[in-house]
Amino acid sequence: MHTNVWYVDDDVDIEKSYPQIVEAAEWLKKNEVVAFPTETVYGLGGNAFSKQAVAKIFEAKGRPADNPLIVHVASRPHVEKLVKEIPHEASKLMDAFWPGPLTIVLRGGEGVATNVTAGLDTVAIRMPDHPVALALIEAADLPLAAPSANLSGKPSPTTAQHVIHDLTGRVAGVVDGGATGVGLESTVVDCSSDTITILRPGGITKEQLEEVVGHVEIDPALTDDSHQPKSPGVKYKHYAPSAPVTLVDGTSSFLQSIVEKRKEEGIKVGVLATEETEALYKADVVIPCGSRSDLISVANRLYDVLRRFDEANVDEIYSEVFTEQGVGTAVMNRLSKAASGNVIKE
Ligand code: TXA
Ligand code: MG
Repeated sequence: MHTNVWYVDDDVDIEKSYPQIVEAAEWLKKNEVVAFPTETVYGLGGNAFSKQAVAKIFEAKGRPADNPLIVHVASRPHVEKLVKEIPHEASKLMDAFWPGPLTIVLRGGEGVATNVTAGLDTVAIRMPDHPVALALIEAADLPLAAPSANLSGKPSPTTAQHVIHDLTGRVAGVVDGGATGVGLESTVVDCSSDTITILRPGGITKEQLEEVVGHVEIDPALTDDSHQPKSPGVKYKHYAPSAPVTLVDGTSSFLQSIVEKRKEEGIKVGVLATEETEALYKADVVIPCGSRSDLISVANRLYDVLRRFDEANVDEIYSEVFTEQGVGTAVMNRLSKAASGNVIKE
């Protein structure tokens, strides 16, 4: 399949009549799949009402069929077409955080194709805060089912080049709107029962949610492997570069001592460092991932840095760890998955 690439000028206002958006929307209306930027990561979109379009998303990504998709909307009336009822608390969250990196799981979803929800009786919905995403949804005049636009298991794409690398020949097109903002996927919050529960940490923190709706639970499966996660996607190995990742919970000199041992054994070692610590390591490849004093910068850079280790062909990656506060919770969630839980403590 030929994959079109549509460049979108970031200096002009993007509206649904923008020529490249109109062209990409035509493919979506024909039930083909198109990747597009959001403020979190690039998504791979398809008509949420079409089983055929949604099947193409799963196929292009190599995604397991039991992992449901998020439906992206551009307006509240779109949501009302998807679910019968919007609970009061969910409505408050939409007012506070939409458009933005918050996905809300609601009861219902009978309106969307059955493969969107993987047979669950709930549907996940989000309104992205990106002019290109919103214009595309409006131009297609369809809610778009869209997972992250990477091959299943790989780090999510934060640039169009990442998408092109993973999906060329597998999708109808990619709308290139430059690098994304947050850099980690949205927070997924379950509002389908009386307790509001975070199923996946992301750009919107627990503290921010609690300011709007009071107490919020965290799915115990996020911190304890013996629980079955309520968000099916959370159970898969994710976000992983090809080389095995190990988190090192200790000082830089402890991490450096591990690197030296591995190097003596002839192994090509990569270190995920920070701006503050980069100079302290001597490894084959040292990549700074933002600043320790600004965890948002770490989130922004994380997936690109993981992909750069693949390009550098290292055999093993050792990573610093971060404080699990604010967006640090989401950063550590993704890093732990990339490491399949591998941690060395000093
Ligand atoms: O920021 C994002 O959320 C990006 C952009 C493209 O919007 N999308 C994204 O999609 O990360 P994906 O498919 O990589 O992750 C969707 C997550 C999965 O963990 C999935 O299991 C969960 O949302 N999910 C979807 N529908 C659900 C439902 N009905 N109940 C519980 N979890 C659900
Ligand atoms: Mg994903």
